[in-house]
Amino acid sequence: MPTPYPPTKTPSGATLSLREIALTYSTSRGPLPALGPLSIDVENGEFVAVLGPSGCGKSTLLKILSGLLQPSAGQAFLGGTIIDKPRQDVGIVFQQPTLLPWKNVRDNVLMPVRVLGIYSPAYRKKADELIEMVGLDQFAQHYPHELSGGMQQRVAIARGLIHEPKLLLMDEPFAALDALTREQMILELQAIWERTGKSVVFITHSIPEAAFMADRIVVLSSRPGRVIHIENVGLARPRGLESMAAPEFVAICDRLRRLFTVKDPAHA
Ligand SMILES: Nc1ncnc2c1ncn2[C@@H]1O[C@H](COP(=O)(O)OP(=O)(O)OP(=O)(O)O)[C@@H](O)[C@H]1O
Ligand SMILES: [Mg+2]
Repeated sequence: MPTPYPPTKTPSGATLSLREIALTYSTSRGPLPALGPLSIDVENGEFVAVLGPSGCGKSTLLKILSGLLQPSAGQAFLGGTIIDKPRQDVGIVFQQPTLLPWKNVRDNVLMPVRVLGIYSPAYRKKADELIEMVGLDQFAQHYPHELSGGMQQRVAIARGLIHEPKLLLMDEPFAALDALTREQMILELQAIWERTGKSVVFITHSIPEAAFMADRIVVLSSRPGRVIHIENVGLARPRGLESMAAPEFVAICDRLRRLFTVKDPAHA
């Protein structure tokens, strides 16, 4: 029997629930199926990474979860209510920090509460706490061009958390950073996640980044992206960079890599 919707909770107690979501774009060359159908649940406080090849529909999925795009089929629920427009209980961090160059760090962090029309002076204190949490307390009054790429991305993370969303959506947030900054950022994000207890959907191309960060990794096929594998990552937390050398970590990465490896026709 089909599950009645909208559910207050799925049977698993999931906070985010995607049911048979699909999206087809209308393009100049005709309809282009970009995603799904797929169903995913994300538990309260869970860190889920979504891993898939370029063009498989990952950003499309995130736009649906953020309420910026309506699916062509299926429905997404957060906390039991349907996601049909941008909403206050969702925070987003994009691949590029997209800061406003004419606003300082504190005002950039405050942008979502101003856009949502919920600004009050108490948010200034909250912004300063977040700025401190991402290690930029000396830079609250600096402007974006006075910051490095990693620092700008930290501002974007603080901005994504200012309105206290239940769910944080991240679309390859570290892809534009150099390898050393990227390692530092994944450690910092892990610490922030442990402190704030948000549910996170983290899109990435990087198998080690997914395995390091996630409780669960949802692997998508090539376009239109469908779920081809779910990997439960049982590694103890907090995870240090040394855990990337652990046999269990290496085995997870190998297993995931094999899902994407095209068979060599000479050995098929
Ligand atoms: N606005 C749009 N109109 C038409 N087609 C689109 C649009 N946005 C994306 N697409 C197409 O949908 C497919 C999925 O795009 P999407 O950006 O979701 O992929 P992705 O998995 O995020 O890729 P990447 O890893 O390269 O960021 C692609 O084939 C793309 O060409
Ligand atoms: Mg993308």
